[in-house]
Amino acid sequence: MRLQVLENYKEMSVKAASIIASQVILKPDSNLGLATGSTPLGMYDKLVEMYEEDLVNFEKVVTFNLDEYVGLAADHPQSYNYYMFDNFFEMVNVPKDNINIPSGIEDDLKQVCKDYDQKINDYGGIDLQVLGIGKNGHIGFNEPDNKLRTNTHVVELNDETINDNSRFFDSIDDVPKKAISMGMSSIMKAQKILLLASGKQKAQAIKKAINGEITTEHPASLLQLHSDVTILVDKDAAKLI
Ligand code: GLP
Repeated sequence: MRLQVLENYKEMSVKAASIIASQVILKPDSNLGLATGSTPLGMYDKLVEMYEEDLVNFEKVVTFNLDEYVGLAADHPQSYNYYMFDNFFEMVNVPKDNINIPSGIEDDLKQVCKDYDQKINDYGGIDLQVLGIGKNGHIGFNEPDNKLRTNTHVVELNDETINDNSRFFDSIDDVPKKAISMGMSSIMKAQKILLLASGKQKAQAIKKAINGEITTEHPASLLQLHSDVTILVDKDAAKLI
């Protein structure tokens, strides 16, 4: 694991964007695994800026998002689909057909999960996977558990996650109780992983991810088993390391 502590959120975001841009410049048809949440927002802003300045071109990139809420349609403002278009895809030139985000509103969600894994495999896997981290150590929506969920799956969100994510909704009752998440297998099979964390509320999760026991009870700790992980944190998130 390579850990880099940046001065603040802005510097972390700029560094993250430069790593993604380098990936795309070196391999224009990269398969990017993308994340949502508040942490990567600055990174997406910077990537849009770099695209507008002609420093990076996404026309051959294929994207796979980590997760989506069950029950929220693509046009729901809190869906991850909406987030991705609103914060990134509307402003850059990733072709619409190259954008993959699991749908949380199909009748047969098991099939959605199966098809998603199949598509990732058909495209040859993910070159660079971006991750945020939950306070409880979740990555994507791989929640702490006593067993490993390897493939894309439907997950029951735990109370802490529902509570953390309620800040984006009018009321906690509006937060979906389930989500579809890429499993640990697709994430771990990515050639490279880029984990971002900002703020003191993530310090404990980062400490356990880097130095803690490797356990499914702290999913980010499993990243210790991957050979090419870069962790970018700001000073607050690095506080307990
Ligand atoms: C959500 C997402 C994760 C994200 C995490 C942290 O639950 N499913 O992909 O990394 O929460 O979010 P934030 O960056 O807003 O703290």
